[in-house]
Amino acid sequence: MTGPIRIPVGLGQRSYDVLVGPGTRHLLATELAARLPAVPRRVAVVTSDGIGVEVDLGETVGGVEMFTIPAGERSKSLATVEDLCRRFARFGLTRGDAVVAVGGGLVTDTAGFAAAVYHRGTPVAFVPTTLLGQIDAAIGGKTGVNLPEGKNLVGAFWQPSLVLCDTEVLATLSAAEYRSGLGEMAKYHFLGGADSGAGDAAAMAELPLEQRIARCVALKAEIVASDERESGRRMLLNYGHTLAHALEIAGGFGLRHGEAVAVGLVYAAEVAQRLGRIDGDRVAEHRQVVSAYGLPVSLPAGTEAGELIDLFGRDKKAVGDLTLVLDGPRGPEPVRGVDRVVLAEALEAIR
Ligand code: GLY
Repeated sequence: MTGPIRIPVGLGQRSYDVLVGPGTRHLLATELAARLPAVPRRVAVVTSDGIGVEVDLGETVGGVEMFTIPAGERSKSLATVEDLCRRFARFGLTRGDAVVAVGGGLVTDTAGFAAAVYHRGTPVAFVPTTLLGQIDAAIGGKTGVNLPEGKNLVGAFWQPSLVLCDTEVLATLSAAEYRSGLGEMAKYHFLGGADSGAGDAAAMAELPLEQRIARCVALKAEIVASDERESGRRMLLNYGHTLAHALEIAGGFGLRHGEAVAVGLVYAAEVAQRLGRIDGDRVAEHRQVVSAYGLPVSLPAGTEAGELIDLFGRDKKAVGDLTLVLDGPRGPEPVRGVDRVVLAEALEAIR
C-alpha cells in the first residue's frame, strides 16, 4: 500500500505538512506527536453537530475532550470563540497542549481562531471533512469568524501544525456540499501554472481524487508560502470571489460558496475580455471548465446589477479602489479601479 501524499507548506518555523489520502485521519496521534515540540498532555477536539468523523488520538496524550459547536453559519461568531475558550480553560488546556478541529471550513475557521487567541496561541491541527476545506479553507492559516456587519471580519493568521485531508470522509458528503468544493477546484485550473498540473483540466479529470486534491493543495501551499499575509500574490486565491461574495451577501439565491465562485470565474473572464486582457477563446475556456465540473456559468434569476456592483466594494479585501483578480497575458493578477460600466456590461453577459 502506498502512503499518503505529503505536501509541505514552507513557512520557515511555521512550516507544516498536509497529508492527503484515504485514512489519513488515523495518522493524527503519530503525526501530531512528531510535529509538536512536546507531546501534548491534553487535546481539545472541536467538531460540529452532524460531522460524525471520529479521530483517534491513541495513547500519546493524557486527556482528550470533545467540544461540539452547533452546525450553521451562526456558530461562526465571537460568542462561539468565547464559549470554546472558556471550555478549554475549564478543561485545563495550556499553550503546550493542542486543539484538533474536525469539520468543514466553519469548524476549522472558528476553532483555528480560538486556538490562535487562546493563551495567545495554542497549536492546532485540522482534519477538514469537506472538499472545500481540504483544498482551501484548512490550508494557509486564515482563521476567523463573522460579525453581524460582515463575514470573516475578525480573525488571525494562525498556521496549523498539521493538516490531514482524509479522502475517505468525503464519501459521506452531500452532492451539494461536494459541488461546492468543485467550484474552488475549478478556480485552481486558472491559477495553475504549466508545471503545477492543476492547470491542465483534461489531465486533472483522469486523476484519482486524492491526486486532484493534492495538486490543488500543492498550488495553494506554494502561493501561501510566497505571500503568507496576502500582501500581493495570495490575492490570486480570491479569483472569482468578488462576484461570489456579492451574491452571498445579497443572499436568497440558494447558491453554495463554490457555485457562487463558479459564476464568479466566468464573470471575471467577461470583465477581463472587456479590458482587452484576454480573448474570446479564453472566456470560452472559463465557461467550458466550469461547465465540465457541472457548475453554473450564469447569474441566478432575480439579481440586480446595481446592487451587486455596490456589494463588490463591501468585500473586506477591497483596499482603497475596488480590486478584482483578472486573467491576462501573465495569468490572473489583481487589477485596480475597473470602470463601473465594464462591471455592469460583464454582468449582462452572464445572464
Ligand atoms: N481562501 C483564500 C486564502 O486562503 O487566501
